[in-house]
Amino acid sequence: MTKNKIILTGIKPTGTPHLGNLVGALLPAIKMANDPAAGQSFMFIADLHALNSTSDRTEIAKHSREIAAIMLALGLNTDRTVFFRQSDVPEISELTTLLLNVTPKGLMNRAHSYKAAVDKNIAAGTDPDAGINMGLYTYPILMTADILLYNSDIVPVGADQKQHVEFARDIAGYFNNIYGPIFKIPEPFIKKETGLIPGFDGRKMSKSYGNQIPIFDDENDLRKNIMKIVTDSKLPTEPKNPDESTIFQLYQHFADAVEVSQFRQKFTNGGTGYGDLKKILFEAVNNHLSGPREKYKKLMADPDKINAILSDGALRAHTVAGPMLARVKSAMLG
Ligand code: TRP
Repeated sequence: MTKNKIILTGIKPTGTPHLGNLVGALLPAIKMANDPAAGQSFMFIADLHALNSTSDRTEIAKHSREIAAIMLALGLNTDRTVFFRQSDVPEISELTTLLLNVTPKGLMNRAHSYKAAVDKNIAAGTDPDAGINMGLYTYPILMTADILLYNSDIVPVGADQKQHVEFARDIAGYFNNIYGPIFKIPEPFIKKETGLIPGFDGRKMSKSYGNQIPIFDDENDLRKNIMKIVTDSKLPTEPKNPDESTIFQLYQHFADAVEVSQFRQKFTNGGTGYGDLKKILFEAVNNHLSGPREKYKKLMADPDKINAILSDGALRAHTVAGPMLARVKSAMLG
């Protein structure tokens, strides 16, 4: 399905990625980008998008560096994939300004994230637009520019981003109607739900619950986090229900089918305590992550190397973005 297609993904640098992000988003994105059958792929750190929710440049820079190092440590092939920082390619801002003029304001009023912010204000009895900046309001236009600037065919995103890709299709259509067929109409590729990836308290793993297990914690911290996983109080001898266990749900993402079915039996047969099941889970996660963790540490200690890779990516991105922007300008301005 991705044969010879141009694939593009952006990752917003607003938090330290955790195991939920890893299996739900980062690994699938790398797999798709590295697929030799696909055409060109683009992956970028959406630092301009981070600006509408934080003004802390230290945090944005730190999370950008972390995400770059994580993707590289997990094996993103930067010969195939153009990997860059969004703000390093200035054409994006210029295209956004141009696209403002073909985007109906009413479309932005319907954006889920804007509407959610307004609803929250109304519920709190404040001005509906309190605390909402134009970066948030026009977020979908910047994202549309990301997608259209690189001629993307396929945009892999989580279900929460589907509306944004639909907006990109709409805006490309409005533009093409007025100025001629310049933009391709991109397709969203909504990742199959990986199922709920629970944090150590059993709720969905999320920064907002503080129950996340960071990807590249030291081995000891990883072990501690896994040992913290909440269980019921079944005795070691009793059979346990794997489908209700956070331990089992996490394990499935770090083991092959045979190992998973053996692990399932350890639950259903009884005879293995939760402490031992957690140890097995820790070994599996750690086996997967220890190699990349070493690479990650080395990269994080060498910011010049990360910057060099991202700068090279920005140059390659620029060779696509430049001509595309020139076509748009010439269509709009003569
Ligand atoms: N908005 C996306 C998110 O929050 C990140 C993003 C920015 C993106 N630009 C993009 C994703 C372009 C896909 C394509 O996850």
